[in-house]
Amino acid sequence: MGKKQFGIVVAVVFIALVQVSVSVPFILLHGISAECSDDKEANFTQLLSNLSGSPGFCLEIGNGNRDSWFMPLTKQAEIACEKVKQMKELRQGYNIVGRSQGNLVARGLIEFCDGGPPVHNYISLAGPQAGISSVPMCGDHLAPSGYLKIPTEMTKYLESSKYLPRLNNEIPNQRNSTYKDRFTSLHNLVLVMFEDDKVIVPKDSSWFGFYPEGEFEPLLSAQQTKLYTEDWIGLKTLDAAGKVKFVSVAGEHIRMANPDVVKYVVPYLQTQPSSQQRFNRKTKQPLRP
Ligand SMILES: *[C@@H]1O[C@H](CO)[C@@H](O)[C@H](O)[C@H]1NC(C)=O
Ligand SMILES: *[C@@H]1O[C@H](CO)[C@@H](O)[C@H](O)[C@H]1NC(C)=O
Ligand SMILES: *[C@@H]1O[C@H](CO)[C@@H](O)[C@H](O)[C@H]1NC(C)=O
Repeated sequence: MGKKQFGIVVAVVFIALVQVSVSVPFILLHGISAECSDDKEANFTQLLSNLSGSPGFCLEIGNGNRDSWFMPLTKQAEIACEKVKQMKELRQGYNIVGRSQGNLVARGLIEFCDGGPPVHNYISLAGPQAGISSVPMCGDHLAPSGYLKIPTEMTKYLESSKYLPRLNNEIPNQRNSTYKDRFTSLHNLVLVMFEDDKVIVPKDSSWFGFYPEGEFEPLLSAQQTKLYTEDWIGLKTLDAAGKVKFVSVAGEHIRMANPDVVKYVVPYLQTQPSSQQRFNRKTKQPLRP
């Protein structure tokens, strides 16, 4: 073999190595009454990592369980933002798996985190994306008050709720197109609803479905809500581009059977062929790695 051919062989091997070694890390954001040191959260993160072959991190906020109840979501999202910016592993971008309330922190990361690394895929498990219309023992000082949304009390909700109205760009004169742009830049959005969910009410909120303003019926599908039709956060744009997966699985709140994890979560954590990702969508020019 001549020098030149040898060089080509070396280059081909090198390129192949570079491609297989690009593995996108993910973070897990747990729900209320949970923490990363719980066996359940640690194990789930490890399971996803084992199955996908990608490094995974359970991201803790404050002291875990207690703060998941008492820390306002705005603060939780700020802390999460600072943390992801400090993690060297995430610098090239990352994926997010959110569990229950953790999904509102997840979307805070995607929409509000100035200067944070890009989020590629976002998998939402039982997320109260459009709010919840009832919550047991909900005092104003608890985190869930940030997404409690009673359809017959919409004026109060829009005026005094501190978190979800901003996250969903619901307040007419305060919509921020940056939040929409950031959410729309996701490569994949996977919304998983649990058929027997009794914690997220209505369970359809996990797909961005909710009640109409002022009434408890009829329950609207995501596509019938103004958030979607007026495209407040880019859900319609993402859906039109084929990037939203509406998934319904059997089971109670957040109880996901392993085969469903394999089918609906793992594929979005696995390394995507780099040729799919490395193009500037506007100019169609390949991006440098
Ligand atoms: C952790 O995950 C493994 C594999 O899925 C499972 O067999 C085990 O029971 C889990 N342990 C806990 C504490 O959940
Ligand atoms: C992940 O893989 C490691 C190493 O094979 C194994 O020890 C561990 O039990 C697995 N954990 C889960 C939750 O699957
Ligand atoms: C919208 O959000 C971005 C990002 O946080 C912020 O820089 C900008 O000032 C906001 N715009 C308005 C009009 O509030």
